[in-house]
Amino acid sequence: MWSLRRERCLFVVMAVCLACSLGLSFIVPPAGVQQPSFRAPLRNVLVDDTSSTLAGSTPNLGSVACFTCLAVMGLAAAMHRRKACQKGQSLVALKADEAYGASHTSFYTDAVAKDKYDTLEEVLATKLKDDKLKGMVNELLDACVKITEALRVNLVTVNDASNAFGDTQLTVDVIADDLLWDLAKTSKYVCEASSEEEPEIVKTCPDGQYVLCWDPLDGSSIVDNNWAVGTIVGVWDKSTGLIGATGRDQVMSLVTLYGPRTTVFMTLDDGVYEFTLGPGNQWICSQDQIQIKTECKIFAPANMRAAQDVEGYSKLIDHYMTNKYTLRYSGGLVPDVCQQFTKKQGVFTNPTSKSSPAKLRLAFEAAPFGRLVEMAGGKTSDGVTGKSILDVKIEAVDQRTALAIGSAAEVDRFNSTVLQLQAA
Ligand code: F6P
Ligand code: MN
Repeated sequence: MWSLRRERCLFVVMAVCLACSLGLSFIVPPAGVQQPSFRAPLRNVLVDDTSSTLAGSTPNLGSVACFTCLAVMGLAAAMHRRKACQKGQSLVALKADEAYGASHTSFYTDAVAKDKYDTLEEVLATKLKDDKLKGMVNELLDACVKITEALRVNLVTVNDASNAFGDTQLTVDVIADDLLWDLAKTSKYVCEASSEEEPEIVKTCPDGQYVLCWDPLDGSSIVDNNWAVGTIVGVWDKSTGLIGATGRDQVMSLVTLYGPRTTVFMTLDDGVYEFTLGPGNQWICSQDQIQIKTECKIFAPANMRAAQDVEGYSKLIDHYMTNKYTLRYSGGLVPDVCQQFTKKQGVFTNPTSKSSPAKLRLAFEAAPFGRLVEMAGGKTSDGVTGKSILDVKIEAVDQRTALAIGSAAEVDRFNSTVLQLQAA
């Protein structure tokens, strides 16, 4: 509105100037012009000195002044229109940006290609002192290579039986589970093992050092969509065993993500590392010493059904939306949490309520992820007391839990908003 009014004013002033210039030329004709005409003064002003001389007249000062004014005003009007246009365009761009939530809320990798990547062997040689644990990790990764291959060639169909929890069991779940049981039952490192599909502790090699707990293929509800799924493994020492221990007692944990690439995130002696499965089934170290930032703008809200019962969860989701966080949620715990290791930020929330109870398993899912995220500088909440998920005692193999996990400030926000607790 303002710019239109301004433009109209300019045109009025220009019109007045034009009228004045015509009037002046008419009233005070230039010297030597005998018969003033309507056209003459215009010609006097518009043509250059030579033509004036040729016409045998000198320019009228009044009309020169008025025409100069006219030119300046015209220029001002043109510039003003151009500015308004640019402003209009950027306004349109801004509106589109707001509408699509682009640029400022999209997160792209800042990873730069290296000339050389360390191999798994090279990294384990210096970053995992314990030889037995090294052997255990190598066996687990071999199983994950086999699972990768099985996922490539098997259709996702329903198995004829459901698992011990009554969940629908898929053929790929069974294949992945069988591969891990093959490992557990033949490994010299494993003394006890338990699978989410079969939640009992099975004794294996009596001389083995470790208790293995795994979710063979997390993401049964999305694997038919061909979305990313994963294997989650927690490793406890036989000195603590599993029952009565906590997630903090794990000696290592790893999560393998089967997406367009197969990557594995694991805790080594000094932090969290990512390895990528490459040609010839060789693992290369694609990220080392991964750190999750304290603040984040990415949210992954699991069990949103609970927001109907838990007002705090509804408020928390509202906070994410009001503050324009980016939603990155697939419904698979593995990709939904592992994004924190690549984006270096994020929060995964899974509170529970009476009508939407906990689904996540402490030993098979929450504790192994807790170790990874906390070692990467993130934080966890058990979704009840607000304390670290790593301090929850494992009383039963199939124990379920609520969970918030990720960027520390956001886990604090979860604790204060959903659990109404003060930040620790
Ligand atoms: O294993 C449980 C699980 O399938 C996780 O992989 C996933 O994060 C969660 O459940 C999904 O829950 P929801 O459907 O409530 O978002
Ligand atoms: Mn699972």
